[in-house]
Amino acid sequence: MSGSFPATPTYLGFNAPVRAEVDVYDLEVTEGAIPPDLNGTFYRCGPDPQFPPKLGTDIYLNGDGVVSMFRFANGHVDLKTRYVRTEKYQLERAARKALFGAYRNPFTDDPSVIGKNRGTANTSVLWHGGKLLALKEDSPPVEIDPDTLETIGTWTFDGALTSRTATAHPKVDPVTGELLFYGFAAKGETTPDIAFYAADASGKITREVWFAAPYASMVHDFAVTEDYVLFPIIGLASDLERLRAGGSHYAWDATLPFYVAIMPRSGGAEDIRWFTGSSRFVSHILNAHNDGTLVHLDLPVAESNMFPYFPNTDGTPFDRSRAVSSLCRMTFDMSSSGDGFTQSELAPIFCEFPIVDPRYATREHRYGFLPYVDRALPPPAGLGGATGLNFNCLARVDVRSGALATHVVGADATSQEPMFIARDGSTVEGDGYVIAVINRFDEQRSDLILLDAQNMDGTPIARMRVPLRLRNAFHGTWVSRAQRDAA
Ligand SMILES: [Fe+2]
Repeated sequence: MSGSFPATPTYLGFNAPVRAEVDVYDLEVTEGAIPPDLNGTFYRCGPDPQFPPKLGTDIYLNGDGVVSMFRFANGHVDLKTRYVRTEKYQLERAARKALFGAYRNPFTDDPSVIGKNRGTANTSVLWHGGKLLALKEDSPPVEIDPDTLETIGTWTFDGALTSRTATAHPKVDPVTGELLFYGFAAKGETTPDIAFYAADASGKITREVWFAAPYASMVHDFAVTEDYVLFPIIGLASDLERLRAGGSHYAWDATLPFYVAIMPRSGGAEDIRWFTGSSRFVSHILNAHNDGTLVHLDLPVAESNMFPYFPNTDGTPFDRSRAVSSLCRMTFDMSSSGDGFTQSELAPIFCEFPIVDPRYATREHRYGFLPYVDRALPPPAGLGGATGLNFNCLARVDVRSGALATHVVGADATSQEPMFIARDGSTVEGDGYVIAVINRFDEQRSDLILLDAQNMDGTPIARMRVPLRLRNAFHGTWVSRAQRDAA
């Protein structure tokens, strides 16, 4: 390799690129035992740059996608990690250097790759319609072999995907098996166009609705209820002229209002209701449901931008004190004639990456599972996570009471996004396991922990030693053996 990775927090310590594809057969269980009836695979997706950045520095979000899988069977678990062979990965591998420039800025690319797919497939994985897909919101999904993690290729739903992009946060309706998803910047970078899709349980696209947001911005996640789809629009805006000048894809403009578009699942663009309020930051959504004319949206909300690497348009520096989220509920009344909504706090915890028991997704839920930052605890000595958030706790939150059941992940450790695994044969919400990769700064390696989802503050059911460092991934999914076999 010519050149080296820069000595910046994005590439140092726990964030140092791993650049390896590994197989670890039969992980060591250092605490408890793996339940013998836990059969399935925990897939994760995250960034790990193949080469030093073309422009000398880069942001964590722009690394090449690596999919990892922990496969559980008969009381044992095996680990496998593989890069996603995107077009970008293959072109750069052949050149033995980075050819693509800044995050979502094609004007910074080497002339040899103009017009090529810039997607990194580094954000999440989806299991639907018998396919495992690696996702990145600026490009179409990439199909991955669910057993070998070999890249099969770009998946455009048999050519039915008309958007240039597809979200990394699609939703599966647990009752109908439908897939609901969308692309933003759907007509190209910095366009305000959003394309919404519904696909049946087999993955065949059945509906498509196009509409335009009030301005072009990051539409990272959305929500689905039994009857509606919701699209939050935040002031993390994109701008073509800034891109042409080599600038940041996104910048935070606090003068832009916050919007939520609500559309009936069976409706069209003409049925969209736009609700609006003052500027605020939201990213990942816990869940949403509708009850009569009311639509409830549960999610972490912060006063200002939580991404330190996207600048403020007013030139002010990143302000962590205004980028502290708490878990909130927004409620929209579809019988009202106005465009306002209410917001209340469900739990005063600095949280992100919330997940719901997937059997209750799109319907009323009682519990959320999430990592949060207890700022009363001393920060870990090692480097923080990808977002600069040191999640030292994992919790189950009861959204009715605000009650927390917390697992403190360790004195010099942080948690990555957890995942919920339903107990076989149970239909009770929250009956199952919570699984998470733990960053062990003290030993510069990772653990995999398994908690009882109904007893989060108890002793872990099992702790597995990962004999290497797994960089912070973003999102994952659990695919049970039964789901896999049904495909
Ligand atoms: Fe995300």
